[in-house]
Amino acid sequence: MYLESAAFENFRNIEKHSFTFSKGVNIFYGNNAQGKTNVLEGIYIFAGGKSFRHARERDMICFEKENAKIGINYVTEERTNKMEMRFFRDAKKQMYRNGVKILRSAEFIGNFKSVLFFPDHLGIVKNEPAIRRSFVDGAVSQLSPSYLMALLEYGKILEQRNALLKNFGAYGASFDVTFDILSEKLAVCAGKITAVRAKYLERLAEIVDECLADMTGSAEHISFDYTTSISRFPGEELSDAEENTRRYREKFAANQEKEKILGVSLSGSHKDDFEIKLNGRAAKLFCSQGQQRSIALAMKLAEGEIAREKSGELPVFLFDDVLSELDTERKNYIISRLSGRQVIITSCAETDFDKSIANAAEAQKIYVENGSFKVM
Ligand SMILES: Nc1ncnc2c1ncn2[C@@H]1O[C@H](COP(=O)(O)OP(=O)(O)OP(=O)(O)O)[C@@H](O)[C@H]1O
Ligand SMILES: [Mg+2]
Repeated sequence: MYLESAAFENFRNIEKHSFTFSKGVNIFYGNNAQGKTNVLEGIYIFAGGKSFRHARERDMICFEKENAKIGINYVTEERTNKMEMRFFRDAKKQMYRNGVKILRSAEFIGNFKSVLFFPDHLGIVKNEPAIRRSFVDGAVSQLSPSYLMALLEYGKILEQRNALLKNFGAYGASFDVTFDILSEKLAVCAGKITAVRAKYLERLAEIVDECLADMTGSAEHISFDYTTSISRFPGEELSDAEENTRRYREKFAANQEKEKILGVSLSGSHKDDFEIKLNGRAAKLFCSQGQQRSIALAMKLAEGEIAREKSGELPVFLFDDVLSELDTERKNYIISRLSGRQVIITSCAETDFDKSIANAAEAQKIYVENGSFKVM
């Protein structure tokens, strides 16, 4: 799949601009605070349904304007598709696909597929578990509508269960009935989520290991230890959803009394994590800046490969400020791995791309200044 064009109106500092993209590398370069990341943010909304900067809708509307609009045309093996998103200062956003209004984000996500690398993703190795869960969830949700549904349902049930636990004293006899129903529903969702995450991480680790070994002349190897509330030992097989559900039931029952005291759900998919190991050691303790960046990037390349395996089409790579801090060897490897893919990439330094430009016939360079764009 590739992005053919995009039209921005009053989005962030971009008042009005229409882009036509090359099927190969598209480079947005320019000084800080000019609008490079804003372009990627606008495009990613069509893949993820929301801003990757966790921005509120009204904050993405250009200062002093009332509404904003972005439209994209993307091409799949079957056809050209149109999607559009409209933001309003005082109303909910509106979404359209091929002219039809879409009411639920779950139907909007998963059509236009992209892999995003954003500097925050560097924290994937060292930061809190939520960032690793969100990596897996973002990737799998684009590929599997049933996973996205399970995830959304899990979030809702968890919220209800926590609200119930918080007001435990106020419910009296009706507490147990409601609590058991919610716990059972949560166990079913969590069982599915764990099975999908386990399978995804297994394949991801294989590809990431391959990438990193290639990037470093086999000096570096990667593995993941997926840990859940129902794990008994590292590296355990957790791909059977029903077996997982059975174990979540047991876990929830065992935790129940403690949860009533603390007023919060102590176990479940919202506690999952996976530890990244570099040459057998916990990467978060020993990784250099460049190694962190390499691992995060290898994970993104692998995300793209899995998307291709599952859907038969390559996603569009959106890479924000990706190459700084990498040595020439690692940089060249990344650039070579991206050949044959559509990449929209930002950088402050034009020189980062000399090699890619020389090699890529379809590369396009766009200079960004104060929300305006010039094809060079
Ligand atoms: N709602 C908005 N309306 C108008 N301008 C905005 C809005 N939100 C952000 N901006 C402006 O957008 C600019 C930042 O754009 P962006 O984050 O794309 O920069 P960048 O080119 O990626 O810079 P860097 O190289 O530092 O990452 C800032 O000048 C900011 O004031
Ligand atoms: Mg930026």
